[in-house]
Amino acid sequence: MYLLIPAAGIGKRMGSNRNKLLLKVRSQPIIAWTLLAAQAASTITWIGIISQPTDWPDLKAIIADLKLTKPVEFILGGSTRQESVYNGLQALPADAEQVLIHDGARCLITPDLFNSCAQAIRECRGLIAAIPVKDTIKVVDGQGIIQSTPDRQKLWAAQTPQGFDVKLLKQCHAEGVRQGWEVTDDAALFEKCGIQVRIVEGEETNLKVTTPQDLAIAEFILTSRGF
Ligand code: CTP
Ligand code: MG
Repeated sequence: MYLLIPAAGIGKRMGSNRNKLLLKVRSQPIIAWTLLAAQAASTITWIGIISQPTDWPDLKAIIADLKLTKPVEFILGGSTRQESVYNGLQALPADAEQVLIHDGARCLITPDLFNSCAQAIRECRGLIAAIPVKDTIKVVDGQGIIQSTPDRQKLWAAQTPQGFDVKLLKQCHAEGVRQGWEVTDDAALFEKCGIQVRIVEGEETNLKVTTPQDLAIAEFILTSRGF
């Protein structure tokens, strides 16, 4: 299975002066943990890391250190995640029929979740890992007044991996460019195009490292795993 890793952000909410994926958690940079999980997942055979050229020297040093045995391609990042994924899709080898996309910032993913998504995408056209929402979610207007309370039974928090039929995802991205859609994940493009997206049960620990607090939580989880 081909895997694209969007890693071209700047990590504004982390408040660091460099790409947050280069920050260390325990003994390794965030992106190294993500790559190690991909290396350990038997179904993943090819990795495309979508990133900014300014980070390439650091990323190349990290990858050399990890002694990965799977091929890693460097792909130029865009100015939004959506653009980065678009570039990644163009850079896939011609024989890629399905692809998994996994945020570099979700560094606590287990190899098992990669494998279950890789298996599931062979049986459907689009999927995302997600977990049931624990909090009650409120819809609020601009004045801070609650408008409604969606039924929690129906609410799931989206994660990555997200998996897609490559041909369809390319078509949905092209449609998104034509229509000027701005979305935060690829599943939303499928939804807007009216194509079904399936849920695969994600992992509570598969958090996206976004703020300094998340760094502390990631440290805690890695420590509890014995790292
Ligand atoms: N990403 C990307 N290209 C961009 C923006 C984001 O490949 N132009 C990647 C990030 O590197 C990250 C993933 O998409 O792995 C999820 O994005 P997010 O957590 O929002 O990371 P950043 O955009 O770096 O953080 P922030 O939004 O706080 O600036
Ligand atoms: Mg972002």
